[in-house]
Amino acid sequence: MAIDKIAVITSGGDAPGMNACIRAVVRMALKKGIQVYGYWRGFEGIIRNDYIPLKRFNVSNIIQAGGSILISSRSEEFRTPEGRKKAAANMLGQGIKGLVVIGGNGSLTGAHLLNQETDIRVVGIPGTIDRDIYGTEQTIGFDTAVNTALEAIDRIRDTASAMERVFIVEVMGRDSGDIALYAGVAGGADAVLVPEIKTDIDKLISEIQEGLEVGKKTNLIVVAEGDESGGAIALSELFKQRAGLKSWVCILGHIQRGGRPTVRDRYYATAFGVAAVEALADGISGVMLGWDVGGGITHVPLKETYSNKKVYNHEIKRLLEAVS
Ligand code: F6P
Repeated sequence: MAIDKIAVITSGGDAPGMNACIRAVVRMALKKGIQVYGYWRGFEGIIRNDYIPLKRFNVSNIIQAGGSILISSRSEEFRTPEGRKKAAANMLGQGIKGLVVIGGNGSLTGAHLLNQETDIRVVGIPGTIDRDIYGTEQTIGFDTAVNTALEAIDRIRDTASAMERVFIVEVMGRDSGDIALYAGVAGGADAVLVPEIKTDIDKLISEIQEGLEVGKKTNLIVVAEGDESGGAIALSELFKQRAGLKSWVCILGHIQRGGRPTVRDRYYATAFGVAAVEALADGISGVMLGWDVGGGITHVPLKETYSNKKVYNHEIKRLLEAVS
């Protein structure tokens, strides 16, 4: 059955490039004669029936903006079957049969359940700065976030070397070390600590001390917030307790979530947005769009995206260790 009305939401933690993606969804849908609605605040807006019809001008001048014009949130009620039933009834009541969900793991889980339990056709788009979704090489927001982290690390390096200080920079990543690893390699970090693997803290302390003894001026450690050490403050405390080693801490936090999306993120966002509308128009549903290593778009069953864990990139850690 042809689809003539679809909706789009941004859900979970926002990521730079989400606006570019909304724009692509709206523009592509209008070209195909499909009406688009934007629900405010992700799944929560669908439950509240809080939406706006999106026309061409609604998405003008947003390609360069971080955040989400539709606002994003995490909905508790949508986690319940009753919440999802209510959401589907609201959509179908407006004649909206298809939904594009831009978000991370939690949002894709919700997207899958909505698709399974109701008549709503759903296509997910990976949008998270963490890049921690199985089935895709790229997520909207990662490239911007990692470049923001890198810029900060470069600046910290200046002051760290000028004052001969040991610095610990904490980046985002609750379950994923990708921001830490990529910004760490590009920023010349001496060590990177990530949630996926254990780090021998005593060995790390000895390496830092050996470096200081031979006159090493800059010691830059990058730690992902979800690392088992507990993050930068806890790590700094460990350095002090175990070896009397003084270190300075910088937590980048939500700075990494904001800002103008990079070229890459705008490109992925646009390609994903166009492909999502094409998929819904072709009757494809229950999938997330993935970006494969060769640069093409794939269709990954929604369930696979959150029931599998993204494979940890050992190669980048090896690179880091080879040059640190
Ligand atoms: O999922 C992206 C992310 O930025 C994580 O890196 C971080 O742990 C989390 O969101 C923070 O979420 P919130 O903004 O709700 O504190």
